[in-house]
Amino acid sequence: MSPPAQDLFDWYDRHRRDLPWRNVSGRPDPYRVWLSEVMLQQTTVAAVGPRYARFLARFPDVAALAAAPWEAVAEEWAGLGYYARARNLHAGAKALAAGGFPRDVLGLRGIPGIGAYTAAAVAAIAFGVPVVPTDGNVERVAARIHAVETPLPGAKKALDSLANRWMEQAAARARPGDFAQALFDLGATICTPRRPACALCPWRGACAAQAQGIAEALPRKAPK
Ligand code: ADE
Repeated sequence: MSPPAQDLFDWYDRHRRDLPWRNVSGRPDPYRVWLSEVMLQQTTVAAVGPRYARFLARFPDVAALAAAPWEAVAEEWAGLGYYARARNLHAGAKALAAGGFPRDVLGLRGIPGIGAYTAAAVAAIAFGVPVVPTDGNVERVAARIHAVETPLPGAKKALDSLANRWMEQAAARARPGDFAQALFDLGATICTPRRPACALCPWRGACAAQAQGIAEALPRKAPK
């Protein structure tokens, strides 16, 4: 059984975080979505905020990023760490400059530097493709909802499949980008690694881990 998408939306529509990459009406620009998702991969939401705006002011679109010398991109990335991300962005922009953004997961995966997570995030948020981008937040929510005892990282594929089953609901398919971002917010503010706020969770009635009193213990991690 999937947790009810509509309950998640009712919660998200009241509590959604006001974040810079969400300040758009209508379909967001895929370049902006891509940039936010790459920045958010290893950097916190709070740290990304100001850097995101600055990066966009300097490189406002794919063409500007593709045309920039690597040194300028590296300079703008300074302090964010994990420079491979900036290299991938730059390489991806060069590949995208000719044909623009593919509008589905498979096409996006074909762009250098765009992996499974980023392809799913851009497809869902920018193009409304019904796919769940499974990051660490979504893995945690899925492990708890379905009381998955298999430890990470071994459980990754199974958790991604479970989360994508949720997207089969008509309510979720009507708003794939919001569904993804509602899951990120749920994982960041309610279904947190430590001391999850289960009493406030829109999915508590559907959560197997909560019913068993083991929410905080999941997901389990394989010993290093
Ligand atoms: N983490 C990864 N992507 C995110 C997004 N779009 N909003 C909030 N947190 C995120």
